[in-house]
Amino acid sequence: MQTVYILNGPNLNLLGKRQPEIYGKETLQDIEVACGQIAEANGLKVRFLQSNAEHQLIDWIHEAREDACGIIINPAAYTHTSVALLDALGTFERPVFEVHISNVHKRESFRHHSYVSLRADGVIAGCGAQGYELALLRLIRLLGR
Ligand code: DQA
Repeated sequence: MQTVYILNGPNLNLLGKRQPEIYGKETLQDIEVACGQIAEANGLKVRFLQSNAEHQLIDWIHEAREDACGIIINPAAYTHTSVALLDALGTFERPVFEVHISNVHKRESFRHHSYVSLRADGVIAGCGAQGYELALLRLIRLLGR
């Protein structure tokens, strides 16, 4: 298994345009390219996906059960609401990292709780788009590559 799933939740398709003062100017495609380069240099493949639909994210997690060595997920707003995503991640037996571009703990109180953190092996928040790269480097370390 050499594929890392990088999953992105609702509204992240608008990254770069959406509230850049909070989420920065980098687009999701910029993040995909940066992660792809790191993965390739370490003999891994990336399946980089975004959906605004909860069920689609769940289906991708089920797919990852078959062929992923790890999952990096920014569940976006579903972080704070979705027991279904938590349960889906609970069926995945390899490392899971949760990424938030913004520092959710510095924001509204409803963003302070994460269902996904109950499953995540690590959480990165507030490191901007670079958070994805940091999560990937940690996963690579855990995989012993
Ligand atoms: C986010 C933080 C969430 O609270 C928010 O709903 C998002 C993005 C982040 O990356 O900082 O959509 O996950």
